[in-house]
Amino acid sequence: MDVQGWLGRGVDAIEDWQAGFGPFEHDPSLRISDEQFASAFGEFTERLRDNYPFFHPSYAGQMLKPPHPAAVVGYLTAMLVNPNNHALDGGPATARMEKEAVAQLAGMFGLATHLGHLTTSGTIANLEALYVARELHPGRGIAYSAEAHYTHSRMCGVLGVEGIPVPADGAGRLDPGALDALLARGTVGTVVATAGTTGLGAIDPVHEVLAVARARGVRVHVDAAYGGFFTLLAGAPGPAGLDEAPWRAIAECDSVVVDPHKHGLQPYGCGAVLFRDPDVGRFYLHDSPYTYFTSDELHLGEISLECSRAGAAAAALWLTFRLLPPTPDGLGRVLAAGRRAAVDWARLISGSGRLELYQPPELDIVCYFPATRPRTLSAIDQASARMLADGMADPARPVYLSTLRIAAADFARRHPGVAADREGARILRSVLMKPEAEGYLGELHSRLERLAGG
Ligand SMILES: Cc1ncc(COP(=O)(O)O)c(C=O)c1O
Repeated sequence: MDVQGWLGRGVDAIEDWQAGFGPFEHDPSLRISDEQFASAFGEFTERLRDNYPFFHPSYAGQMLKPPHPAAVVGYLTAMLVNPNNHALDGGPATARMEKEAVAQLAGMFGLATHLGHLTTSGTIANLEALYVARELHPGRGIAYSAEAHYTHSRMCGVLGVEGIPVPADGAGRLDPGALDALLARGTVGTVVATAGTTGLGAIDPVHEVLAVARARGVRVHVDAAYGGFFTLLAGAPGPAGLDEAPWRAIAECDSVVVDPHKHGLQPYGCGAVLFRDPDVGRFYLHDSPYTYFTSDELHLGEISLECSRAGAAAAALWLTFRLLPPTPDGLGRVLAAGRRAAVDWARLISGSGRLELYQPPELDIVCYFPATRPRTLSAIDQASARMLADGMADPARPVYLSTLRIAAADFARRHPGVAADREGARILRSVLMKPEAEGYLGELHSRLERLAGG
């Protein structure tokens, strides 16, 4: 895609639309000469160089990558209008695009009915789901796995709801037995299952959580902020295919969150929350004397906690879905490459004398550590930190990783032979969320073996 050319076409399209409204004088207070701009822009672009190369497969660190060029062109073109998707009065075109894109997300999860909208982030999307959980079961707590994203506990605090962590099993998944014991007390109203944990990419057994919860009259919310789009690989043939059971169960859960700004190729500012029962819209009821005046059609602000939201985010997602829809043959192919890279890399690490696999990857997140002598948590912690720093500092062949702090007890469950001489250790974590990771794997692995060699 010729991004530069299409950005120009985007500007042309908006200017053409604007020309239909007749000429007017722009206020001199806003006028800036090209010379003035050139100086500020030079400084600006120079400062932007102080970044990690998220676009490059040598960046195998955190959940970061640039959006697809189609999303960039969609976002910037719509941003020239700057619609606000709070209300149809703020941006009718992009509000309708949002409804269509959200319906595609609901279809991806197999939801027979839905009420949903985009949010600025996964955190706000989860906050909305927990808010509805509180309204439906006032006075009852919200349970989530000890491996769930930290914001669940924080948002329970914000909502004044008791948040209860449930132990995870030896693979970092919520333990349904421990959950059942907790739910038997009758104090929990909603349980959060995570489909793709932030640290390890573990998939909670949503189907088992659902069965346990339903037997106790408890609701289920699925935090699939990171992993949601992997539902496109459920039951797929080949090495990228995932066990269908947890993914198919999402259609029966009460709500689900997915972040298009993670695996949906979007720029930041694009999360989504979906409820299976459209009737929960009643918890959002409010009056807004300044908006909602042009039609009786549903305004997105009537079903969201946030007020202003970028219509450009919806535009970018809609345009991206026109080209790479959330189907196995569309976005599914993008995710499959990263998943295959994770599976292949896990095999290479398992056969390596210099690296050890922390646990087999369930998605595209690979966690591993240097094979140290002595085999102690202290040695692993120090060697991981050294590899992280040395990898970034190498001027010729830099490589960018991230670390994950593991508690000694969790480490011992997977690697009982490692001496627990401290409370825990940092290990290395690589999120292979760019499909280019697959073709770069040989280079990445050889770099890391060299780094691990000291
Ligand atoms: C599972 C999960 N939930 C929630 C979040 C929070 O999402 P956001 O960073 O979009 O607020 C993340 C972020 O990594 C996540 O991985």
